[in-house]
Amino acid sequence: MKATAKAHTNIALIKYWGKRNEELILPTNSSLSITLDRFYTETTVEFNEQLTSDSFYLNGEQASEKETLKVTKFLNLVRELSGDTRHATVSSTNHVPTAAGFASSASGYAALAAAASKASGLQLEGEELSKLARRGSGSACRSIYGGFVEWQKGTKDDGSDSYAVPILEQEAWDLSILSVMIESKQKKILSREGMKRTVETSPFYDGWLKATEEELQIAKKAIEKRDFELLGETLEKNAFKMHATTLGADPPFFYWQPATLEIIDYVQQLRSQGVLAYVTIDAGPNVKVICEPKDEQKVYQTLSEIDSVKEIFVCHPGPGISYL
Ligand code: PMV
Repeated sequence: MKATAKAHTNIALIKYWGKRNEELILPTNSSLSITLDRFYTETTVEFNEQLTSDSFYLNGEQASEKETLKVTKFLNLVRELSGDTRHATVSSTNHVPTAAGFASSASGYAALAAAASKASGLQLEGEELSKLARRGSGSACRSIYGGFVEWQKGTKDDGSDSYAVPILEQEAWDLSILSVMIESKQKKILSREGMKRTVETSPFYDGWLKATEEELQIAKKAIEKRDFELLGETLEKNAFKMHATTLGADPPFFYWQPATLEIIDYVQQLRSQGVLAYVTIDAGPNVKVICEPKDEQKVYQTLSEIDSVKEIFVCHPGPGISYL
């Protein structure tokens, strides 16, 4: 009747960018991520026959009607699966700094999927849990597992073969992921909206699809061989290509700001000095810099000298879902 789950955020090395089905959240391309140790969400779900509607508390405060509606929509999927029609109280704590620009939707929906399914008596694991989390937010399906994770896009119309699979466990390869925050006042184009506009209008989108399938295979090879240089080059190219598609959209848009480019420039300078560090960027201006643990200090030092850098969070590969 009551369950608590913990899920960590993840950062995509090969990006999910575009849906073939908006309702079921089915992607046009497969993607690959690392689950992070530092940022996570803890969620408790309790079903109760006395309740006449769902209620949602976020970081100790009652959430807005809009946020609560999203949770109810997700709980409806769980109620459909379990046959249990009761309403629930959901309490979530996000251990993702709000300033971090990190989407808490991945850890949020992964934790909600795990806690809600368990509280309703469903024994969902792996594949099934990943598919449920996917319905909340695409990237959430990857947060079910720790370490390196692939979201296989699947080919079926009903989404039954679109879920994440673990490809290398957390302890198998330690990397440093420096999440670099910049000052930002720009209004955000949400990933959902950005993807939709790009798929529908960008002539570069076909190029993205073709390249990303190849880059996914190269990244997987690089992970298998623990070839950091190959992985780094591939993930950086993939991120740049994703952002290039937005420039071709109508109306065009982009997520970068001057400070984004400044950080990219510093990382390229580090490489010219022989330090292997690479960037990736999601649907926002902040930059994640990936390097090997032996270079972490040097990279941290260099990035912290940039005026427009507000804060740097150092992350490493983290675990999958757990129940508390
Ligand atoms: O799962 P969403 O809707 O938050 O989309 C995530 C999109 C990117 O962060 C840009 C890429 C990814 O694969 O995480």
